[in-house]
Amino acid sequence: MITIALTKGRILEETLPLLAAAEIHPEEDIDKSRKLVFATNQSDVQLLVLRGADVPTYVQFGAADMGISGKDTLMENGAEGLYEPLDLRIARCQLMTAAIKGAPAKSGRIRVATKYVNIAKQYYAAQGRQSDIIKLYGAMELAPIMSLADEIVDIVDTGNTLKANGLEAREFIADISSRLIVNKASMKMKHVRIQAIIDGIAQAVASGN
Ligand code: PRP
Ligand code: MG
Repeated sequence: MITIALTKGRILEETLPLLAAAEIHPEEDIDKSRKLVFATNQSDVQLLVLRGADVPTYVQFGAADMGISGKDTLMENGAEGLYEPLDLRIARCQLMTAAIKGAPAKSGRIRVATKYVNIAKQYYAAQGRQSDIIKLYGAMELAPIMSLADEIVDIVDTGNTLKANGLEAREFIADISSRLIVNKASMKMKHVRIQAIIDGIAQAVASGN
């Protein structure tokens, strides 16, 4: 059996055509179900639907053989025990710092609100800046407005959320997109089957599907 860990929501819509290119189709509509495990037309392939931040964990521990995960999540989690064979070129955005529009750059110790605690720590340390990181789980843009933090570290897509809240992007940290990840042991043990799935998806990515 090959188990593939996916994330529900916006990304799923872009994920399913890639799986379809590898001839994998869920047997029911994932978005309309409360189930967490889905059989597919391939009797040896099943899909898990997880919170995005949990996908690398399932794949790292081998509870799933493969998964689709944002590069942001992989950077935050670390990628021990994982191969990352394919950039799927979906869910593309940028990881940025942001602050209140026009506010002078803070000198000295900086307070940063983010759900990307590890990335933020590393980033500010690499800049030689002292930082206090405050962990949030969403709506990071509110933190500078309410003086909880000087800056945030978050993903920026259209920039609409920053703009709507009077913030502006400051420094670029990384380009983000969804990646195919594979458990290292699974890659060895189930190589032929997994490689066929990777190849099917790679072709769809290359042809822009
Ligand atoms: C994400 C992200 C930004 C926004 C970026 O938030 O954290 O806030 O989308 O997109 P934009 O540049 O197109 O506005 P999301 O809506 O997922 O909510 P959350 O951060 O509260 O989880
Ligand atoms: Mg947000």
